[in-house]
This record gives sequence, structure tokens and C-alpha cells, in this order.
Amino acid sequence: MAKVVATSPLPGVALQRLGAHHQLQVRSGPPLAGWQLADFVGDADALICLLADRVTAELFAQAKNLKVVAVYAVGVNNVDLAAAFQAGVWVTNTPDVLTDATADLTMALLLAVTRRVVEGDRFVRDGRFTGWAPDLLLGTGLQGKLLGIVGFGRIGQAVARRAQAFAMRVAYSSRRPHPEAGIPNAVFVPSVDELLAQADFISLHCPLTAETRHLLHRERLFRMKQGAFLINAARGEVVDEEALVEALAAGHLAGAGLDVYEQEPRVHPGLLQLPNVVLLPHLGSATRETREAMADLVVDNVRAVLAGKPPLTPVVGPGLPPAP
Ligand code: DGY
Repeated sequence: MAKVVATSPLPGVALQRLGAHHQLQVRSGPPLAGWQLADFVGDADALICLLADRVTAELFAQAKNLKVVAVYAVGVNNVDLAAAFQAGVWVTNTPDVLTDATADLTMALLLAVTRRVVEGDRFVRDGRFTGWAPDLLLGTGLQGKLLGIVGFGRIGQAVARRAQAFAMRVAYSSRRPHPEAGIPNAVFVPSVDELLAQADFISLHCPLTAETRHLLHRERLFRMKQGAFLINAARGEVVDEEALVEALAAGHLAGAGLDVYEQEPRVHPGLLQLPNVVLLPHLGSATRETREAMADLVVDNVRAVLAGKPPLTPVVGPGLPPAP
């Protein structure tokens, strides 16, 4: 019987399903440090892990039986993909099943920050609502404004469709144009800098790679249009958080909606002080339906590999090109 280890329980019954066919060990608790994770994996054939688990080259070197690392997320920046490739280990993720949930949450952040929803909620709870007033908590409208989407994969495209339903104009920057997405009037802007200079709202949907780490560095944040808003439901490290605090505090940016942070779960103390920032605890895919579908996909990937077949949603693996 093959041995599978999981660093956390998952919603739904998927792990139960896996446990009926394989020897399964599930731990819970905070993420394990590198060597502890390697010890936990030991001689297992498969590892199921979360985005906070660092799967390093050292782990691949030690885990001689490992055949698959199934990440319970679409982003796999926590895995040393080049080392996985060299070790001949499959790495899988959970694309598609979380696209709608993440795009919905992106719109929720955009609406919450522009329409001051969280401020309004606090205002009412503090007993400060004394009656309707023409200028009470005025926000910013979306209609006719330009949403700039950085990264036009599945989630970026799903956000574009939603934005068009709000009568927004949409432009995107990405490695290449995406006519196949079939999103009319979504304009391809090859240069991120140009997109930042034009857009009223920027929403980040690129993966975190060596190339995109601090893609929004200080100069770029200050090159964004005066009074623009930034939404980030991708990965915190894509933005220089310290510089973002500066751009918000200086009034260069009008607000931000953030679901992710540079050093999760730590949130920059400067962000906590700013009323024009909506902060969520990495909830992009957090609907019961989505998280159960992600668990099913993780388990289906593991079962496929352990049955000697290719997984359903590989990122890296034998026969695939080396990771970037
Ligand atoms: C992902 O899948 O990468 C998300 O960030 C998890 O919600």
C-alpha cells in the first residue's frame, strides 16, 4: 500500500476517500520548518501540502520515494519546481475549480474599498449613523473607469468578465495577448508601466515567480495614476508592502483591497492603521464548494500518480518541460 502524508486536514470527504485506498497520515498545526517537513514526509510516496509549506530542494533530496507533491492551491511558489523536476517528482495544483471564487472575491475587495463598505459597517456599529446625508462616506464609482489587470490567466480573465458586467473598461498586461479568452474590448497593453499609468484600478493576478517578486516596487507604485486603487488577491510578495504603505499614506493611492501579504500571516503594521485599506485573511478560494472541489482534485491527482498515470493538473513532472 502506498503511503500518503498530508500536512493538514482538508474540507469535505476527499481525504477519507484517499484513506480507503492508501495508508494516509494527516497532521494538523502550524506549518513545519524545512527539516521537520522532510522528516514528516520520510519514505512517503505522496505529499499533500498547503501554500504555507515550503517544499525545498533538500526535501526532494531526502524523500527518495516521493512521486508527487499535490499542492492544495493554484499558486505553487512554495515548491522548488526545478528541484522537483530534477528529482522526477510530479507537482500538481488546483486550477479552474477556484477561478470563480477568487474572481468573486476580487470584485468583493474592489467594491468594498471603493464603496467604503468596511468603513460604513464600523460607522454603524460605532453608533455614529445619525441619518442619511448627501456627503456621507462618498466612494468612487466603477462605471466607465479603467480596470488594469496584471496577469491574464484564468482568474484575470474571470475578473475581466465580471468587471465588464459592471460597465468598466478593461485592459490587461500579460506575457502575450489572449484573444482566445473571447473577452471583447479587453485591451492588451504589453507594458506593465503603461497599464499602471492609465488604470484607475489595478488588480493583480500573476503567479509569484522570481520575475514577479516586487513587480510593483516603489517606483512603479508611485507611477500608478494619482488616486488609483490597488487590489491584490494573488500573492503578497508581488508588491513591495512597505512602499505600498508609503504610497497610501502619502495619498498617492486612494485605497487598496488586499487578500494576501508579503510575510503571511504577518500584516504590515502600517496597513493596519489605514482606513482606506480593506484587509482579508487570504480568502480568495474560501467557499465551502470551492475548497471541497480543491480537495477532490488534490486527491484525484495523488490517486492518478499512485496508479502509475499522469495527474490531472500537473505543474511539473516527467515529460513536462523544466519549471521556469
Ligand atoms: C491559491 O490557490 O493559490 C490561493 O491563493 C489559495 O486560496
